[in-house]
Amino acid sequence: MSILGRHKFFERNSIYMLIGIIVTVLIGGIVEIVPLFRMETVIEPVKGVRPYTPLELAGFNIYVREGCYNCHSQQIRPLRDEVARYGHYSLAAESMYDHPFQWGSKRTGPDLSRVGGKYSDAWHVAHMSDPRSVVPESIMPTYSFLNRQAADLRRIDKHLKALRLAGVPYSDEQIKEAYNDAVTQATDGADAAGLLARYGDKINVRNFDGNPKMVSEMDALIAYMQVLGTMVDFTSYDQTALPTKTAEAQP
Ligand code: HEC
Repeated sequence: MSILGRHKFFERNSIYMLIGIIVTVLIGGIVEIVPLFRMETVIEPVKGVRPYTPLELAGFNIYVREGCYNCHSQQIRPLRDEVARYGHYSLAAESMYDHPFQWGSKRTGPDLSRVGGKYSDAWHVAHMSDPRSVVPESIMPTYSFLNRQAADLRRIDKHLKALRLAGVPYSDEQIKEAYNDAVTQATDGADAAGLLARYGDKINVRNFDGNPKMVSEMDALIAYMQVLGTMVDFTSYDQTALPTKTAEAQP
């Protein structure tokens, strides 16, 4: 049968035509979509980006639970005003271990993707406990209960394990030590050698909320706030991709 003959066959049998279309679209879809399932093929790795420590992850969970993303974005777009206000634009790799990602779509409050190190822990405690005590015109809700509630770390190892299924490279040892690592990170003067060996020596180890009696949700949330945007060393990162040329070309 000639090609035209086969064509005629499809054109005269609508069911075969339909099946033919489905098969063709399926093949095209699979070829386009399946490679994207593998994170490493779409995200360029950047030095310094690491999975969260168990305490930071507990803070991330509180951030999601409290819906902070409803008012705060975590993505700095490559536009001059954003970069001037918040710092280097966000890289895909910086949120590659966030499940679910916290890019957000609303900024009632400022972007938080580089808030790490911007304020002291004490400022965060004061701000979360009573935002108006440090920013009188603030409309952010009060989260003072975070001080009084112990962070739920009982199943944090399971969370690391689940994230590993999603492609976050936690080791068996990191999963096994998750609870201890979380407590260690929130304790002043703790022996943190194991924690640092597992996650790198840039980890903030201290009593974030100033209360030594328990590892509170405040400890976890501040540990998370203080690491945001600090993993990549932008003094050595190439910034030439900034859109300055197009901005200057505009009259
Ligand atoms: C109803 C909206 C709203 C919600 C929900 C909200 N915030 Fe805010 N947030 C704001 C506003 C507005 C500001 C700016 C004024 C201020 O600093 O309080 C702000 C400021 C901040 C800042 C200081 C940022 C900077 O660069 O100065 C941090 C940190 C912060 N919020 C964290 C959080 C966290 C964590 C949560 C969730 C527990 C949260 N916010 C929930 C509205 C919100």
